[in-house]
Amino acid sequence: MTQITPTQTINAPLINKLVVIGIGLIGGSLALGLKKRFACNEVIGIARREKTCEEAIALGVVDRAYTSLAEVAGELCAGDVIFISVPTLSVKTILEEIKTCVSAEVTLTDGASVKGNVQLAAQEVYGEVPAQFVLGHPIAGAEKSGVSAANPDLYEHHRVILTPLSTTGVTHFELVTKLWHAVGAEVLTMTVAEHDEVLAATSHLPHAIAYSLVDTLAQDIGNPNIFRYAAGGFRDFTRIASSDPIMWHDIMRANKQSVLHALDLFIDNLTRLRTGIETEDSEYLLGVFTRAKVARDHFTNMLAKRAFVNSMSTQKIDYVVQPGGKVVGTIRVPGDKSISHRSIMLGSLAEGITEVEGFLEGEDALATLQAFRDMGVVIEGPINGYVKIHGVGLHGLKAPSKSLYMGNSGTTIRLMSGILSGQTFDVEMSGDESLAKRPMNRVANPLREMGAQIDTGEGGRPPLKIRGGAQLKAINYVMPMASAQVKSCVLLAGLYAKGTTRVTEPAPTRDHTERMLTGFGYSVKREGAVAELTGGGKLIGTKIEVPSDISSATFFMVAASIAPGSDVTLTHVGINPTRIGVINILRLMGGDLTLSNERTVGGEPVADIRVRYAPLKGIRIPEDQVPLAIDEFPALFIAAACAQGETILTGAEELRVKESDRIQSMADGLQILGIDAKPTHDGIIIQGGQLQTGAVETHHDHRIAMAFTIAALRATGPIHVKDSTNVVTSFPTFVQLAKQTGINLEVINH
Ligand code: S3P
Repeated sequence: MTQITPTQTINAPLINKLVVIGIGLIGGSLALGLKKRFACNEVIGIARREKTCEEAIALGVVDRAYTSLAEVAGELCAGDVIFISVPTLSVKTILEEIKTCVSAEVTLTDGASVKGNVQLAAQEVYGEVPAQFVLGHPIAGAEKSGVSAANPDLYEHHRVILTPLSTTGVTHFELVTKLWHAVGAEVLTMTVAEHDEVLAATSHLPHAIAYSLVDTLAQDIGNPNIFRYAAGGFRDFTRIASSDPIMWHDIMRANKQSVLHALDLFIDNLTRLRTGIETEDSEYLLGVFTRAKVARDHFTNMLAKRAFVNSMSTQKIDYVVQPGGKVVGTIRVPGDKSISHRSIMLGSLAEGITEVEGFLEGEDALATLQAFRDMGVVIEGPINGYVKIHGVGLHGLKAPSKSLYMGNSGTTIRLMSGILSGQTFDVEMSGDESLAKRPMNRVANPLREMGAQIDTGEGGRPPLKIRGGAQLKAINYVMPMASAQVKSCVLLAGLYAKGTTRVTEPAPTRDHTERMLTGFGYSVKREGAVAELTGGGKLIGTKIEVPSDISSATFFMVAASIAPGSDVTLTHVGINPTRIGVINILRLMGGDLTLSNERTVGGEPVADIRVRYAPLKGIRIPEDQVPLAIDEFPALFIAAACAQGETILTGAEELRVKESDRIQSMADGLQILGIDAKPTHDGIIIQGGQLQTGAVETHHDHRIAMAFTIAALRATGPIHVKDSTNVVTSFPTFVQLAKQTGINLEVINH
């Protein structure tokens, strides 16, 4: 499918004469639309009935109208357009008439909903489809029909599919494209076959079902009062059963094979649903309904052109942040991303139900959730952070019907590699532009040592293909880098391996996998730098409360630390000892942070953190803090830029392989904002100074976007944070909380 963008605006009328054959909703709306936009000099209507001609003239839809094309055919020449908008099966008769009286210079196009039979009709009439005929289909029907329903704005922001053939003339094709652009439509091209298949599923099948449902209620249910009580659901579902019967009769016949195929799939699904209801199979019913709800919500978001929180943001946004101000208030940032991922993974692999509270409804964690749904796990929610997972056990996942899409999420792809290496089926995982650049051999290599069969894309990057059926064996893995993702991946593969899998880490990294496995009743032995588990056990469903993400809280901790007058309290923040590097580093810099209300929830320590402004000083960041603050450096670099003196970071080469090269992205942005920031191979040297105004790139990295947003608190002018779209991967409420606490931020849609 190709989209064609408008190339010019219209000054002079685009065409001289437009002839509309069949003056109903579709043809009448094109006529009115072009007239309203002064895009044609004259509209001539052709209708079978005299009365329609009179009505069309009276409504101002056409300037002249006739019951026969022959009456005007002689007037038409190059640059004029005939639009055939009659029911699909009548197109052939119209073409026969056109052939006898219309010159080959005149452009022809149509609006029929099936293209295969129109192509065939043209071939039968002309021998081959003539160059002047551009087959098309505006996707803008309505249940109303007739010329009185014609609407000049019907095609605004609607799609028109053109299905050009090798015989189609370029000038005719261009003229038809411009004509649709002129009435505000988006023009796409497809092959005829593709068009008919797509439309059978998305339009013809729903119409067949709507007609059949209403007919069932009207005829078979036998209660004459039934429609009196049929409100909401009935009305929403059956609106399209009021569409033009002749038109739909023609469409069903014209696209018979594709419609039958779509109907067969639907009937199968409906039969399975019937069995599910008959046998009271709640699992099955919930599976269908939750999957369908997600799909439908996704569709609603697409229509509203909002970012889909799965799959993923389509519309780019920037932030423009005004300088100065302070942050004040008490806020709760969303749930921890690392823990949210793991709750879905372990909940799915457990036996029985797992209930999760505080789940992060950000795109990354939702990518994990969707992947398990794609493998047959029934997951209810998320609704306000509540998720209910119907675990299938370690061996209950099913082969997904398509490749799993991980979006921006490194944690999903790397941890899932471990789980998927132990399955009996093949699977492929891919991701977005940023994920496609990230190194995967760090997990593929140890998994191969365990016996997994994995292919990576070029240079050890996604997509990953994992072949099923491998018998994994336990290994003793000494990690070359401090990475919780690698550790977790190997441990998760260890669940499927024969023997005891042991992972040794060079420095402590987040231990959520080990803690959560224990919470699911799976024994994990931990001694110093080593974590080990033995394959062949089972996980039992449990309840999980996800604390707020310290990585998201960080942006407000730094914001409060750098902006005079600030006083922010962040509640219920996870303070797992493997994650508190940011607190330690900010305190070393002179930050004023107080922890209160310390408690343990679901095996994870949490606290409320109060942060007040305090002048910061530059420091040499202790290397042992690096893995404990690995995601917090973009924000900490802003703290360093606002501190007095020099801050030196070393031992942090891992930052170069995050969602972007965070050393380079931050150094570039800081330099644009007038800060002396020198990247080194494993860190950065930042001289504290005065942040200036400027526009910075985020390289699709959520944390770079949020870091430069808070920087504006100390800048001399606005900061334009380009492409902040991915903030929703980890922190969907960032904009709202930033504004609420006092950051003057505006979101700009592209
Ligand atoms: C994570 C581990 C870290 C971190 C990432 C989440 C996890 O990655 O940067 O955001 O949930 O295990 P590495 O393992 O690559 O350090």
